[in-house]
Amino acid sequence: MSPNSRVYIFDTTLRDGEQSPGCSMTVEEKVRMAHKLCELGVDTLEAGFPIASEGDFQAVDAIAREFGWVQVAALARANSLDIERAAKALERAKRPRIHTFIATSDIHLKYKLKKSRQQVLEEACAAVELARQYAEDVEFSAEDATRTCWDYLEQISLAVVKAGARTVNLPDTVGYSVPAEYAELIGRMVKAIGDRAIVSVHCHDDLGLAVANSLAAVQAGARQVECTINGIGERAGNCSLEEVVMAFKVRQDRLPFHTGIVTEHLYDASRLLSSIISFGPQPNKAIVGENAFAHEAGIHQDGFLKERTTYEIIDPKTVGVPESKLVLGKHSGRHALKNRCEALGFQLTKEELDKVYEKFIAAADRKKGLRNEEIADIVRGVLTSLHPVTAD
Ligand code: KIV
Ligand code: ZN
Repeated sequence: MSPNSRVYIFDTTLRDGEQSPGCSMTVEEKVRMAHKLCELGVDTLEAGFPIASEGDFQAVDAIAREFGWVQVAALARANSLDIERAAKALERAKRPRIHTFIATSDIHLKYKLKKSRQQVLEEACAAVELARQYAEDVEFSAEDATRTCWDYLEQISLAVVKAGARTVNLPDTVGYSVPAEYAELIGRMVKAIGDRAIVSVHCHDDLGLAVANSLAAVQAGARQVECTINGIGERAGNCSLEEVVMAFKVRQDRLPFHTGIVTEHLYDASRLLSSIISFGPQPNKAIVGENAFAHEAGIHQDGFLKERTTYEIIDPKTVGVPESKLVLGKHSGRHALKNRCEALGFQLTKEELDKVYEKFIAAADRKKGLRNEEIADIVRGVLTSLHPVTAD
């Protein structure tokens, strides 16, 4: 494993993730989630945006105090009030990181900030210099980097590194980029910055490309990925932590990178987050969705029962899911039904199984899937009809 293959995981579940509808968390909930994220092994935990609310300030302060061994980041716009508030919230952190940002695209400069490129460049550098007075570790984000003029982005990236930024984050704030384009942009910035700072990526999922873009960026030289559990975040969300991490783990042949994530905790982290916020991942969500390891089609179930890897590229235990599920529904075959009957304690003859299968398919045609009790009832019914008890 070459040291250059290490990708740092910057978790922003408690900041960008929390910024989305239905996801706000109390200080106590954030601390509970932070425990899990530390257990998971994230490198940096972005705990909040202290100027945004008293709750955010308290959460950063509480997490900074409690988790000395993990790097705790706090977000601040590129102005002194925000930076001083972030620094105050991080006062008791052993490894504080101030994450300051300003938009750099012309569209943001013209309509939102009403500032010139030169003004933004100066404010970015001043913000980084001020942040460095409070923390050794300062990250700068060029908001809307993917819609920014590349020459200007390079200029501002080099300037903030000179001002003291150790990480330069180039977000796809509006989820607009596509993998080849993002890789080209990141490759250019990595080349310009060299080893003076780590290039980081932060992708939103508006086109469903956040994970693909993040992976392409790592291949182009980025070494920090900003992401969230279950992919929560503004609008369509952020790059999903579990997906990007598992892509590295499963596809080492194509993606020879590694992270410090203990993947066996992924499912628990996802479930804890779902229990804290008001929704869970969609059932077909990769890695942690309810159906991620469920097989229903007969052909798949048959193959899976013969050899798991025919239809599974990940052993569910690797991500903390206890076992794969065979969902018995109208697409299921005899093989899976026989297995389930045996698990329920019924050893059936061929004739019995044929009859049970016939009744099972008829029932499954009317329903979405059959529960174990329903299957057991069918078996009992068939056994009674085939072997009636006769009174002497
Ligand atoms: O999406 C974005 O650009 C952000 C920055 C503040 C990093 O969340
Ligand atoms: Zn974001």
